[in-house]
Amino acid sequence: MKSLVVYSSQSGNTEKMARAAYEALPDPKEIHPVENAPDPSNFDLVVVGFWLKAGNPDPKTQEFLKKVTGTRLFLFSTHGAAAGSAHANKAMETAKSLAGGARVIGTFDCQGEVNSELLKKVKERPNPPEWIDEADTAVGHPDENDLKALQEKIREALSREGL
Ligand SMILES: Cc1cc2nc3c(=O)[nH]c(=O)nc-3n(C[C@H](O)[C@H](O)[C@H](O)COP(=O)(O)O)c2cc1C
Repeated sequence: MKSLVVYSSQSGNTEKMARAAYEALPDPKEIHPVENAPDPSNFDLVVVGFWLKAGNPDPKTQEFLKKVTGTRLFLFSTHGAAAGSAHANKAMETAKSLAGGARVIGTFDCQGEVNSELLKKVKERPNPPEWIDEADTAVGHPDENDLKALQEKIREALSREGL
């Protein structure tokens, strides 16, 4: 089984998670930022990590997911909103539907610290988005527990697949 980890990350949170995901996978494996991602159809398992932008998977990941077909897919995200919130779940569903031709074998999401200047600016908007108050608790995430929880989810998914 050949695995590929592809991640999109502006401020490093999703990259940190992606490196933990990579560690949890058996050889042979590759890891690439989404900007340099190879053709996913050459892999048996593709793990894609994205961050949330305006309630959706970030735009680069959206484009990449459209190319993921006919393979196993594990998705994870980082976001300012609370883990497991409706906001985060909705973005995950969007990611799944973009990769409609792939077989999703697992998902994981956790908070990722939001750039403090951005947080301040967004809070000052006349109509701040619903997730912004939850973003205060994202400070320090992803932490060691988030990284371990992602690895555990990946191992569980591999074992369900008999891999
Ligand atoms: C421009 C911008 C828009 C964002 N929009 C959302 C959002 O809609 N929902 C959310 O929960 N977090 C949002 N965030 C927070 C990021 O998704 C979060 O901090 C994430 O962990 C960043 O990942 P990265 O460090 O890999 O870039 C936004 C951050 C930025 C910079």
